[in-house]
Amino acid sequence: MKFLRLLILLLFVQAQAQQGGMWIPSLLKGMNETEMKNLGMKISAEDIYSVNKSSLKDAVPHFDGGCTAEMISNKGLLLTNHHCGYDNIQSHSTVEHDYLTNGFWAYSMAEELPNKDLYVTFVIRIEDVTIKVLEGVASLSNESDRQRKIQENISVLNKSLPKEATQENSIRTFYDGNQYILFVTETYRDVRLVGAPPSSIGKFGSDTDNWVWPRHTGDFSLFRIYADKNNKPAAYSKDNVPYVPKHFFPISLESLKENDFTMVMGYPGRTQEYLPSFAVEQIVNTLNPAKIEVREAALKVQDGFMRKDKAIKIQYASKYAGVANYWKKWIGETKGLQKSNAVGVKQKFEKEFAEKVIKAGKQEEYGNILSEFEKNYTELNDYALARDLFSEVALRNIELLSVGFKMYQLEQILNTKGEQSFNDRRNNLVDGLGDFYKDFNATVDEKVFEQVMTVYSKRYPAQFLPVAFKNVDAEKLSKEVYSTSKLVSYDKIKELLAGDSKTVIANFNNDSGFQVIKAIADSFYKNAAFKYDEINLKNMALQRTYMKAILELSPKSDRIFPDANSTLRVTYGIVKGYKPNDAVYYEPFTTLDGVMEKYIPGDYEFDVPQKLITLYNNKDYGPYAVNGKIPVNFIATNHTTGGNSGSPALDKNGNLIGLNFDRVWEGTMSDIYYSPDICRNIMVDVRYILFIIDKYAGAQNIINELSIKYPKSKKIKK
Ligand code: ARG
Ligand code: ASP
Repeated sequence: MKFLRLLILLLFVQAQAQQGGMWIPSLLKGMNETEMKNLGMKISAEDIYSVNKSSLKDAVPHFDGGCTAEMISNKGLLLTNHHCGYDNIQSHSTVEHDYLTNGFWAYSMAEELPNKDLYVTFVIRIEDVTIKVLEGVASLSNESDRQRKIQENISVLNKSLPKEATQENSIRTFYDGNQYILFVTETYRDVRLVGAPPSSIGKFGSDTDNWVWPRHTGDFSLFRIYADKNNKPAAYSKDNVPYVPKHFFPISLESLKENDFTMVMGYPGRTQEYLPSFAVEQIVNTLNPAKIEVREAALKVQDGFMRKDKAIKIQYASKYAGVANYWKKWIGETKGLQKSNAVGVKQKFEKEFAEKVIKAGKQEEYGNILSEFEKNYTELNDYALARDLFSEVALRNIELLSVGFKMYQLEQILNTKGEQSFNDRRNNLVDGLGDFYKDFNATVDEKVFEQVMTVYSKRYPAQFLPVAFKNVDAEKLSKEVYSTSKLVSYDKIKELLAGDSKTVIANFNNDSGFQVIKAIADSFYKNAAFKYDEINLKNMALQRTYMKAILELSPKSDRIFPDANSTLRVTYGIVKGYKPNDAVYYEPFTTLDGVMEKYIPGDYEFDVPQKLITLYNNKDYGPYAVNGKIPVNFIATNHTTGGNSGSPALDKNGNLIGLNFDRVWEGTMSDIYYSPDICRNIMVDVRYILFIIDKYAGAQNIINELSIKYPKSKKIKK
């Protein structure tokens, strides 16, 4: 009987922990600590976040504004993903030293490579400042006045709240404007490249395996933070010394099993978990399909050229990966939302919500939220579609139009800000565009234009579509534009940009490419953008009230987490496989055997370096194997999103066991609706990382810096 009760309690706790959530580190004690401990965590909330002593949060910086990283030695050594360090690895690569292809390892600090614009930011302190931010706001009934006042308060507070000279204040909103939290941060700017595996390990499987489980990618790279003699931030200097972090993670090689507790800390970018059903319906039925169709058209063209031409392959590899990444994500997201009936689940929630409102006697305050949402989202539909298509067509996928748009903005600058601003921007453009044209191929883009414009003319809401593009002959138009427009090369665009402002603007307006972007942009701004902003503002205010009501009317046991907003969060769960489809079960661990199963000699996605094959054949695994196999990737129920890449995966004791880098395709809907059945995050097993550093790269200097906890049976081997 007692056992049964314990079992029920255990099952309950596990089910709860799989509900997802990205939690604020400073609030874990009240919100999550008990549950985390019930799931097996041995450390305390105070060990994770403390203002008084060093804690885990001191080892988790934001990497380059978009990814996460973790400190793994007392000499500033930092671990993040290969795809997060990609640009920096690429920038040091030349034909002679192709670090992307061959990898890079610094065997001494002197060999490390500085990176001009790379920075990492630590969180020093977190503090609720809601009352201060909302001072003088209650009396304002107009939503834009309210927003303006809040922005004013925030910028005053950012300047006036106490911090040290090397630190920065940053106030962020939580729960859609119901809570404001201050983050005091410190940013280091001398960050050097220490190590990266070859792409055939770090990007193994590339776009085919992206977002996919089972996965076999060694997605990691190593950097080192340097500081001045006082351990404070400093610009790059030879005299800087390795940064001593307040905390760094010991690494555990202890065995990891299904159902083990894991926790991920990092900077998740954006989620929308509390959208009403009407908004989710719009994403599933209207917005995602349109964006997918545009990207699919562009990718198909680029892929065709890249497969035939090596130079084009190099020019377009990174751009292609970027476009393909979210193309594939949206497909997974849409399917997942449909399959899990997310709209139905939301509708049920809304029905219950409406009942709670009545029960609480709050009709006056909250009774109209859902009907208002419904009205607004219906009205928003075409404007939202126009906005997404404008951004996908003109700003992202047709490169000629994206450059043209910069010219369009230049014309606006002249009209609104005058000659001086025009000249400044023009000079910036002339300097900056060289990089763009290095990787631009007009022949490729002409075909992209043809395909994407066809989608645009078909999909863009007819009432807003410029007349010129109704039933457009895209083939004829693209031939005409690419044979006459000066936007097709750096030399020609420089001609367009030369002379006084009058000449420049007159030249633009005579250019066939500029005429296309101008028609598209004008029609978007005149017909759709203004109205979109107007309805969106109403929805933002509604969302704030909706969130307030959800927080107020939910029982305490429904712990409600704030949507991701690029601030430091903790998510936790357990190692777990999943069932993607009928009769299919995916186990939670992959091994090096699977890398060899996927191996296609010479293939650009699935080639394997010879040295790794030799290590595999000789089973030369050092202390890193488990039952004779090298673990490679694993999955768990941690609720993560874009920005969590590079996040540390920690065990019950706060030791590093892995490196987060992706999610499973069937579960990418977790940004909108987290389902414990199929949402999983994907991590590189830390034993694969050490195996590559030690056995593949022979970088003993790096291994020696780490604090490694070997399982008892393996101690002697080291
Ligand atoms: N899907 C991962 C994330 O969203 C990894 C992306 C990098 N890899 C790639 N093949 N594009 O960002
Ligand atoms: N790959 C993503 C990133 O770069 C992580 C994710 O979306 O799960 O942050």
